[in-house]
Parts: sequence; C-alpha cells; structure tokens
Amino acid sequence: MPLSHTPLDRLPIRRLTADDLQACADLSEDRGWLREEHKWGLLLAAGTGYGIDDPSGQGLITACVVMSYGPGLGAIGMVLVAERHARQGVGRRLMRHVLDESGDTPLSLYATSNGQPLYEQLGFVETGRSEMLRGHFTGTEPAPERGVRPATAEDLQHVLRLDREIFGVDRTHLLTRLPAFADHLRVAEQDDEITGFAALWPNMDTHVIGPLIARDPATAQALVGSLAAASDRPLRTDVDNRHTALLTWLKANGLEQIATTSIMVRSVPELPGDWTRRFAPLTVAAG
Ligand SMILES: CC(C)(COP(=O)(O)OP(=O)(O)OC[C@H]1O[C@@H](n2cnc3c(N)ncnc32)[C@H](O)[C@@H]1OP(=O)(O)O)[C@@H](O)C(=O)NCCC(=O)NCCS
Repeated sequence: MPLSHTPLDRLPIRRLTADDLQACADLSEDRGWLREEHKWGLLLAAGTGYGIDDPSGQGLITACVVMSYGPGLGAIGMVLVAERHARQGVGRRLMRHVLDESGDTPLSLYATSNGQPLYEQLGFVETGRSEMLRGHFTGTEPAPERGVRPATAEDLQHVLRLDREIFGVDRTHLLTRLPAFADHLRVAEQDDEITGFAALWPNMDTHVIGPLIARDPATAQALVGSLAAASDRPLRTDVDNRHTALLTWLKANGLEQIATTSIMVRSVPELPGDWTRRFAPLTVAAG
C-alpha cells in the first residue's frame, strides 16, 4: 500500500535528526507556538527526537523529544501533533512509543492543559506546578550582592558537580553545550565555593533564564539580576510555584505570569534532586 494511503495508526515512527530542525519548527508554528529553532537545535542534538512524516510530503505530522539523563530520568518535551491530524490518536500513539522505548526509566514532563489528560491516561501524575513568566526586567527591586561573575572554563567541573547534586542526575551532555548555546553563563561564588549558576539564552525575541540553580533565593535573585543587566530583550523563565520568594521578586521587577504548566512524573513519586535549590529548568522541554 502506498504510504499516502496508510492509516495514521500504521505510519512509521522514526528518530529525528538535526536535519529535521525546520520541519520541527514548522510543526511548532502549525500549533500556534513560536518556531524556536535555536531551542529545537539543542534538543535534537542533545536529546532523542521522534516523529512521523506526513505521507503527502508536508513535513511532520507529529514530533517530540526525550532528553535522557541515563537510567535515573528521561524528560519528554515538545509533544506536538499537526492541527490537521489532531484528536485522531496520533499523540497517544507517539507517547506510547516513547514509553515503550523508555522501559523502566522514570519520566518527567511539563504538561500544558491540552496535553495533561493524555499524560494522565498514560500513567503520569502531577507532582507540582510551574509558572511561566515574561516581561522586561525593571530592576525596581535590586538583587542582593552574592559574588556573581561570568563563568570560566575552570568553573565547569564545579558547576557540573553542583548541578548533579541539585538536579539529581547527571546532565553533563546538556550543560557542556551551554557555553555555545547561551549568550551568558554566570556563577555565584562565596568563600571560594560555587553556590549557584544560571544561563541566559536567546529564544526568538526574548532571552530565557535557565537553568537557574542556587543555594538560596537570594543567590538566585543575584544571578537573575546580573543576567538581566546583560539583556535588552524581554526575559522569560519558568519557576516552580513553591518558590514564592523568587516569584514575588520577579513580579516586583516587571515579569508577569503568562501561563502555568503541570509538572508530571511517571514511574517515580517525584522528581529527583533538591527542588528547593532548583529554581528554573534550562527549558521545560528538557526537564
Ligand atoms: C496535546 C496533543 C499532543 C494531543 O495530540 P492528539 O493527537 O490530538 O491527541 P490524541 O488524539 O492522541 O488524544 C489523546 C487524548 O488526549 C486528550 N486530548 C487530546 N487533545 C485534547 C484537547 N485539545 N483538550 C483536552 N484533551 C485533549 C483526550 O483525552 C484524547 O483522548 P480522546 O480523543 O479519546 O478523548 C495535541 O493536541 C497538540 O499538539 N497540542 C498542542 C501542543 C501541546 O499543547 N502539546 C502538549 C505539550 S505538553
């Protein structure tokens, strides 16, 4: 049977590569999301993409990316089904495939209200909620002084060690891409010890702050303040809603909540690591 006549539930699911970047961005646009090519590029390079080609040659009908952190965690993101094929079981089929491929590995994702019912049907459970903030940083509420400076090559080992402790699994393969991916990477240092780090990376017309890892809310604020001073674009970040001190401070500085997402996990009661020192993900698409 020619592929163009193959029912949706029989079309082959394949691995995506860097060559699929434009098709992924087209799919984002199709669903009213931003194209986010820079982010797709990172995710396709550091993670494993899955997708289904449209047999009519019109790009992809669905895509998602799994960022693997070894046996301890896989983070699913960018789950998208083209509008013209919505509500026909494609999303469920792609997710089932990802679950089969992931075996017993615990999984996490940030769900939109569109995606949440599907994930619940597949055994994901809400473990928390996250606020997406956006806006021009005003600096009205100054950040405390916490020894923030640009990261150097010598800092990388310390950053990786601190991140492993706080994120809970090793993400060397992702963090070593940060110096090239981000416009700025900063560390906080007190008494010769790295107490936090954060990156600022370009996403369409905004700069995203993430990851944001810090010993305490004051250090997180100092990192944000330093990065904000390096940007003239609106900032975006995603903060776990338990971080009320940071959220209040960001809102006092002009950022507004533009969406909320559900943090969901499967095969594990909650995310590994220490949420009290994990203030923002690199991107919700990578956990
Ligand atoms: C969420 C999304 C991936 C679902 O894909 P899909 O192929 O349309 O979903 P399926 O047909 O496999 O539906 C699976 C189940 O999900 C739920 N669902 C799907 N779309 C939904 C919607 N718009 N609102 C509420 N529930 C929805 C339903 O329970 C559905 O089962 P049912 O049709 O038997 O009732 C797709 O709607 C999409 O790309 N949305 C925009 C991007 C997005 O929000 N992605 C999720 C990121 S976390």
